[in-house]
Amino acid sequence: METYGVNELRKMFLDFFESKGHLVANSFPLVPQNDNSLLLINAGMAPLKPYFTGQEKPPRTRMATCQKCIRTGDIDNVGKTARHGTFFEMLGNFSFGDYFKEDAITWCWEFLTKVVGLDPERLYPSVYLDDDEAFKIWEEKVGIPADRIFRFGKEDNFWEHGAGPCGPCSEVYYDRGAQYGCGKPGCTVGCDCDRYVEIWNNVFTQFEGDGKGNYTTLENKNIDTGMGLERLAAVVQGVPSIFDVDTVKAVRDKVCELSGKEYKGGTDKDDVSIRVITDHVRSVTFMISDGVTPSNEGRGYVLRRLLRRACRHGRLLGIQGLFLTEVSEVVIENSKDAYPELEERRDTIFKLISQEEEQFNRTVDQGLKLLSELEEEMKEKNVSELSGEEAFKLYDTFGFPLDLTVEVLAEKGFTVDEAGFAEAMKIQKDTARNARKESNYMGADATVFDNLDESITSEFVGYCSNEYDSEILILTKAEPKDGVRGADELTDEITEGMSGVVITAKTPFYATSGGQETDTGVISSGDSLFTVEEVKKLPGGRIGHFGKMTKGSLSKGEVVHLAIDVNRRLLSGRNHSATHLLQAALREVLGNHVAQKGSVVDQHRLRFDFTHFAPMTQDEIARVEAIVNEKIAANLPVVTEVMALEDAKKTGANALFSEKYGSEVRVVSMGDFSKELCGGTHVPATGTISQFKIISEAGISAGVRRIEALTSDGAKEYYDNLENELHEIAKTLKTQPDAVLDRINHLLAEVKELSSENESLKSKLAQNSLGDVMDDVKEVKGVKLLAAQVSDVDMNGLRNLGDQFKEKLGEGVVVLACANEGKVNLMVTVTEGVMKKGAHAGNLIKNIASLVGGGGGGRPNMAQAGGKNPDGIPAALAKAEEVLSDQLK
Ligand code: ALA
Repeated sequence: METYGVNELRKMFLDFFESKGHLVANSFPLVPQNDNSLLLINAGMAPLKPYFTGQEKPPRTRMATCQKCIRTGDIDNVGKTARHGTFFEMLGNFSFGDYFKEDAITWCWEFLTKVVGLDPERLYPSVYLDDDEAFKIWEEKVGIPADRIFRFGKEDNFWEHGAGPCGPCSEVYYDRGAQYGCGKPGCTVGCDCDRYVEIWNNVFTQFEGDGKGNYTTLENKNIDTGMGLERLAAVVQGVPSIFDVDTVKAVRDKVCELSGKEYKGGTDKDDVSIRVITDHVRSVTFMISDGVTPSNEGRGYVLRRLLRRACRHGRLLGIQGLFLTEVSEVVIENSKDAYPELEERRDTIFKLISQEEEQFNRTVDQGLKLLSELEEEMKEKNVSELSGEEAFKLYDTFGFPLDLTVEVLAEKGFTVDEAGFAEAMKIQKDTARNARKESNYMGADATVFDNLDESITSEFVGYCSNEYDSEILILTKAEPKDGVRGADELTDEITEGMSGVVITAKTPFYATSGGQETDTGVISSGDSLFTVEEVKKLPGGRIGHFGKMTKGSLSKGEVVHLAIDVNRRLLSGRNHSATHLLQAALREVLGNHVAQKGSVVDQHRLRFDFTHFAPMTQDEIARVEAIVNEKIAANLPVVTEVMALEDAKKTGANALFSEKYGSEVRVVSMGDFSKELCGGTHVPATGTISQFKIISEAGISAGVRRIEALTSDGAKEYYDNLENELHEIAKTLKTQPDAVLDRINHLLAEVKELSSENESLKSKLAQNSLGDVMDDVKEVKGVKLLAAQVSDVDMNGLRNLGDQFKEKLGEGVVVLACANEGKVNLMVTVTEGVMKKGAHAGNLIKNIASLVGGGGGGRPNMAQAGGKNPDGIPAALAKAEEVLSDQLK
């Protein structure tokens, strides 16, 4: 059988299914998009779920991918056996209501036997218990004898992973030969040993499961297949495990090189550690390239845990200092062609890995010391279990994770009271919660609001009104101080010159939230005027107007007139609505992986952070800008509906994954183009935005890009400034704005001509001075010596000059010195013939360099040195003659 590399096999698979009419798509990122049922993508079908369920229309009804996957369910076994790994690539072909069992099965067979060339005699299919249809296809269409086709139950031949599309499946096993078998009687396909490995799973996706054993039939019959690329490679390459296939082995070899250990492929401690590091660094490298960063929860914690395990196993192998980036480098080199994001994010990958590694090393040093003391204690007391409190103390005080404590102790035969640990953790959390209750909600600013009657709340009425009359429920006052405004104490009256906070029953003022900045404005009553500088949400559903009493006074209970700065609201509304259009346009141009990561909207500009894995091209930026402007010109109505969250989700409205909504939400739509959950204020129709201009696009963290943009007045001002600048430039260039480009091109041509003239003059000058210097050539015992000082050249220039002089001399010795800003460069070169007479450049320079306050040496034919004493150059050059004369004796 011919053997193929991992990278070749990936291509063979995708090419094959492309030839069968499939759309080949790049791997989706490991971080699921718009799917919070999963922490990390764990199968080729995972990112395609909406196509299976019919929620979204696929770009084509046949697709094929090679998908990056991470499965951490078996993390404790990774390393212990050569079968487990957390990272792998899954080859998959998919049909969304297109072909079904027959094509799936026959193509699967064709690929394995014809394209890859696996021996059909070693392949065994299996089907779900009563799936006669699939059985028949294997038997009649493929021609496999019935006794070679196995029927298995739900355990093996029904595929589901949590909630989502699922169905019965048909797997293909490969017989790796008796040497891998357990040798027990009855060992055959389905045996737990290493002899028969499943290589391909064809799932007939017909159901949608709720994860609790209930299934509904999907409208379409679909195909979802999956084949572990590394596992296929192991079979094709005839190697024992995924750790031995070419690209993985390269990583493994690096670990061996760094640790000085040999991999034996067995189960001893070193083998385990080598495999742990190899696997985990693969996972970690890919995760970071997809925007995951280490943290204490969710996928960030998975990353941290993998990194820490890899670190610790490095220590077990005796590796000193930081080493993980060197391993990661090999991962990148081996996979970057298929996954260019590895190369693009190389710096971030290395930075995050080494930061985490450094931090962890410190933690481990401390923790291990403590643990070994605890071990001693336990030995003395003759107990075999570490108490939950001790384990918690290690975690809480030293950041030493529980799983690590368990693992380290297990190696020495101890256990940990994990329930006790959980209990200690709970006690601490409760204490912290109670402590929070007793203290203030938001720190000093909020103190006076803590003990208000719960019935005092405020209602925002600003979606429809810019002005409103309402009663003052709460007033606070403070001496005006910079930075701290208004909340020193509750009061019944606030008078001119004081800072204060006004809380009314209803208010048209928008409090800073959801990225949109605060409204400003005035609160008045008769002649009295309170200037609202900032509006904040306060605990207990209250809205606080922070500001200053500029004229007269206000009292609690008084009905006041609240009026927002309408222009400011309009400007931020334009920017906010434009942000929605921008998000929809980004999804259209870049793809559905674009998700909002944050935004800031104020009266001057908008800023939008979103997931995307490469810098946007000029063309993409221009397209996004054009789409947004088109939607502005179309003057789409902006419609807001309030509905239950569940209903909102059904409308397909875009929501921030991490945003927390109450049960009632607002859905803001702009025609059919954009639909988002949003609590902010908007323009009535998109035409009001008037224009849109992106002024920057940049990366802000792994996998997150930031766009800054302007609308309406802001954009106009931007264009005006550009125009003014153009006029300035034209004036400086003494031309008209429309002739600036011509003028610049003309000037550039002129500069080019002048510099080439300059170059040729310089070289002529140099030639001339060459001639002068040649007058200094002396004869030393019949050998030509040129020892001279030159100016204005660096070491490179000095060597070039040396070569030129040597050529002029024919045979001889050249010694050149040059002083540059208080430093000296010396260079000696000796021709072949003179070397034979005893001259030696290295020794010569050694003897004279001390005179210029330096040292150096070199080969017999060429040497260079540096020094700090330019005044010593004449003496050094004179000495060269003496030394040469000695050498020629
Ligand atoms: N989704 C199927 C699997 O992961 C193909 O095995």
